[in-house]
Amino acid sequence: MAVDAAPIQAVRWDGRRLAVLDQTRLPHEEVWLSLTGAQDTAQAIRRLAVRGAPNIGIAAAYGLAMELSARPSLGALEAASELLSGARPTAVNLAAAVARVRTAALGAGPSTLASAARAEAQRLHADEDAASAALAAHGADVLASARTILTHCNTGALATGGRGSGLAVILELAARHEGVRVLACETRPLLQGARLTAWELTRLGIPFALIVDGAAAGLLRRGEADAVVVGCDRVAANGDVANKVGTYAHALAARAAGLPFVVAGPTSTIDLATPDGDAIEIEERDGAEVSELGGVAIAPAGTPVRNPAFDVTPAGLVTALVTERGVARDPDTASVAALAARP
Ligand code: MRU
Repeated sequence: MAVDAAPIQAVRWDGRRLAVLDQTRLPHEEVWLSLTGAQDTAQAIRRLAVRGAPNIGIAAAYGLAMELSARPSLGALEAASELLSGARPTAVNLAAAVARVRTAALGAGPSTLASAARAEAQRLHADEDAASAALAAHGADVLASARTILTHCNTGALATGGRGSGLAVILELAARHEGVRVLACETRPLLQGARLTAWELTRLGIPFALIVDGAAAGLLRRGEADAVVVGCDRVAANGDVANKVGTYAHALAARAAGLPFVVAGPTSTIDLATPDGDAIEIEERDGAEVSELGGVAIAPAGTPVRNPAFDVTPAGLVTALVTERGVARDPDTASVAALAARP
């Protein structure tokens, strides 16, 4: 595939409609969906056509704004807010973005409900774009001596505003130093690493190798990476972090190998109302995502399945939490609160 360094913008607002790149079809096809309201936006979020913590917040913000353009009433505001916030439970960005747009709409008069919601959704989108650039710079400072980075899931422009969270840190590192390369975990069961991170890194021309998730610990132990960088879906008040299932195992392996485990995400992912990781709701998805691959059964019919989509890494395993407002090293309740309070 030809290398194309143009930034991907997977969520595009034209002032009326939201176009999203359908991530269930990548890497084979680039299919764009045109979303028009709360129902189809919630559905696109649920089936991961649009995904990644910041991007589902951005999409939901526009979903609510589009719904209010079609039905500018308090009833529609409440029903659409509930529908969109409930589309997925783990990433706090979703409910937080909907709450932000709802508050802006409620603060406007009935005649400006929809325009206030649209303006707030656009501000939120711009904030996420700016956060990505700022956190990338902070993360590259933290990882200045690292060259081979192991990462999990997809944390690039497909998942966030701007160029990503974890992947934006890696891209900034590559812009500053020669020899940066990536070990990308495939990320069972939905293969966000194999399908999406590999697609982004190929377009960007960053050298990488795809590995099965189970290879990560052994490669880290052998010193084949210098650090692990991941994104996050919710950071609890005490610094515990929820991210794509499999992340906790990488954190344990990094600690055992004496390597930094860095979590990158915008402050919109910090949830001070959730005291710790045990209080984070972990999304359980359809068992068929595990027992089938590309629609083909890979387990005997009727095999019982558990499919938690995320796991929690305790704060004690996190070397640094990198946000657009700065970095909390060895994050704890005090440093997470201080980061969240920074302007
Ligand atoms: O289920 P997904 O693909 O939405 O999960 C995404 C992740 O877990 C990412 O690592 C996370 O959202 C951080 S990317 C900004």
